[in-house]
Amino acid sequence: MKIITSIEEQKEYCSSIEAEGNNISLIPTMGNLHSGHESLLLLSRSTKNKRIVSLFVNPLQFDSISDYRSYPSSIDSDIEILERNKVDCLFMPDENQMIENINHPETIHLPQYMSILCGKHRKGHFDGVFKIVKKLFKIINPSIAYFGKKDYQQLMMVRHIAKEYFGNRIEIVAGDTVRESNGLAMSSRNNRLSLTDKKIASSVHKELIIMRESINLGSNNQELLKKSIDALSDKYIKIEYLELLSSVDFSIISKKNADNAMLFVAFYISGVRLIDNIDV
Ligand code: PAJ
Repeated sequence: MKIITSIEEQKEYCSSIEAEGNNISLIPTMGNLHSGHESLLLLSRSTKNKRIVSLFVNPLQFDSISDYRSYPSSIDSDIEILERNKVDCLFMPDENQMIENINHPETIHLPQYMSILCGKHRKGHFDGVFKIVKKLFKIINPSIAYFGKKDYQQLMMVRHIAKEYFGNRIEIVAGDTVRESNGLAMSSRNNRLSLTDKKIASSVHKELIIMRESINLGSNNQELLKKSIDALSDKYIKIEYLELLSSVDFSIISKKNADNAMLFVAFYISGVRLIDNIDV
């Protein structure tokens, strides 16, 4: 596997791939790879494209310096996973180079639905993701890019970027959420949880499943959401949001049964913020 740290070199490598008549698949990550990331690597094996994984812990998308600094890193095992999955190239850009010229005021036009859920509670987060994903797309020029449904609002924003800024030349492929056996969605942040925390965190996913059953049986959505927030909130879990929204445009689902409904949750456990969602 080729490992590249310079943006110029990465651009040259991508041009040479195109000159040989090949297309590129990109899987952007912040490293500390787990089975969730690996499922995207597996998905990306279904084409003949050259596969490039980017690994960049993007300081622009963190809420605080301490959150950024404590982001877990495991570069040796990441490289092992990428080689095992026969990835062609790892792009690990130098932080200064990547951030250079990116922070000057750029008019970012995000759709209205990016200002709810995580957009409301993590000010500036999606601006940071927007800048870095757009820059990665520019450098790599992929024909396909892979993203996880676990970060569903991010996935919607990436689709927006592909459409508005790259004329739909980049196909965005979405991967299903990979979970631990107890239902907890895999996340690099799970490394900061104790075994007990993880068990408690998994109760949120269990509650989402129970809610889905009640919604499909015709429960009153708003009452149900309130009841579930009360049931989950205790001294260990702090719910930031729990909402039932359309997966197409994030509008509130007021009808008892609706197509494309999705439950979205963000919560804190032992100071660690986790998100999850399920189709209803
Ligand atoms: P990161 O959290 O490393 O995630 C990289 C990709 O893996 C994202 O598309 C994410 O949705 C996906 N992913 C994470 N956990 C998953 C799981 N349990 N199941 C399936 N897919 C999962 O998301 C980011 O990095 C960054 O915001 C990034 C897009 C790289 C921009 O900096």
